[in-house]
Amino acid sequence: MPEQTASIRQIAPHGGTLINRMMSGELAEAMRDAAQSMLQIPLTPMNLADLEMIAVGGLSPLTGFMGQDDYQSVLHDMHLHNGLPWTVPVTLAVDSELAGRISEGQNVTLVERRSGDMHPLAVMEVREKFDYDKALEAEKVYRTTEDAHPGVARLYKQGDVLLAGEIWVFELPLAAQTEFPEHRYTPAALRALIAEKGWRRTVGFQTRNPIHRAHEYIQKAALEIVDGLLIHPLVGETKKDDIPADVRMKTYQIVIDNYFPTDRVVLGVFPAAMRYAGPREAIFHAIARKNYGCTHFIVGRDHAGVGKYYGTYDAQLIFDEFDKDLIDITPLRFEHAFYCISCGTVVTAKTCPHGKDDWIFLSGTQVRAKLRAGEMLPTEFTRPEVSEVLVTAMREQQEETA
Ligand code: ADX
Repeated sequence: MPEQTASIRQIAPHGGTLINRMMSGELAEAMRDAAQSMLQIPLTPMNLADLEMIAVGGLSPLTGFMGQDDYQSVLHDMHLHNGLPWTVPVTLAVDSELAGRISEGQNVTLVERRSGDMHPLAVMEVREKFDYDKALEAEKVYRTTEDAHPGVARLYKQGDVLLAGEIWVFELPLAAQTEFPEHRYTPAALRALIAEKGWRRTVGFQTRNPIHRAHEYIQKAALEIVDGLLIHPLVGETKKDDIPADVRMKTYQIVIDNYFPTDRVVLGVFPAAMRYAGPREAIFHAIARKNYGCTHFIVGRDHAGVGKYYGTYDAQLIFDEFDKDLIDITPLRFEHAFYCISCGTVVTAKTCPHGKDDWIFLSGTQVRAKLRAGEMLPTEFTRPEVSEVLVTAMREQQEETA
């Protein structure tokens, strides 16, 4: 590490301590052995993503799945029971039959279904099991009880009882071991990298979509006022019609290689699952990026939104409801950006004097329709290199399913 960077104080993790629930060496093996005789709890894709996030400290200060106190406090007050901001439940639901076979205080094994087998990953000490009100959770977290909302649909499908307790992880989910290994920085690894680069200010960018011009515009605008940019695509579960993570990663790589100063950008992956909880998820995303060492976080239009459930800037406004010192990471709020033909560049209504006739908008639905038809996207919307990756991926997918 260069001497002048050794003294840079990094932003503290949420709650002050970076959590590590990964066991290693003999301890991990002892835990794996002990787990063999315990009752098995199968994990959903979202549970697996949460487990990885907890294990590596991305959800610090959480050390396991939430108990009743935290759950209620998150739902009603958007804070953990200890007063720290926290906006989405991180819970483990099981059906009533399975719950009936578990007593509080019991150790259970958390398992991943792998081609028919149940593969043990972690031990959880069940501190509590409790019933919960799904409609209430939907209303509070997602601001709707409609199951047309993908987050609400997932919530309604899950089990009726929540299990809570600390977890001890001796193996990460398969995806964590095999997908994007060179980009799967843990919070500790990313903090070390940021220190090595000597960045005092690092801005995090969350995304679940392929990169387009407006993304690049706000990323570069943000980079103007900080030292480094973490492009952090979410690679946990997303809804079926979102573009798969491997395709999205290719688009990021191609744009970084050709249009970014590579020494100022890190491409990492964010293992979380998408909740589509809009404003509440923006806070969750920001806090997690603080754990990864970011000092700033980009919040643009309809962050983590879906359909018409949230106002365009609700995910920015929600930051005003919190004590800045407790959130600590600084949100960088961006207006809706798009290409203006008269300006010949990406603009926002804040920076462009022209009107809608000059502005190019493309919805996710329009993008998907064009790609399905094998058409390149307009170059004003996305770079041709990116269009090519997307068109090729769509063709391959169509061939596979034909
Ligand atoms: S999200 O679900 O991860 O928020 P997406 O990948 O589209 O979806 O967005 C990533 C980030 O870019 C979010 O902060 C979002 O608000 C912002 N964003 C996306 N498109 C635009 C746009 N056209 N103008 C401004 N911000 C945008």
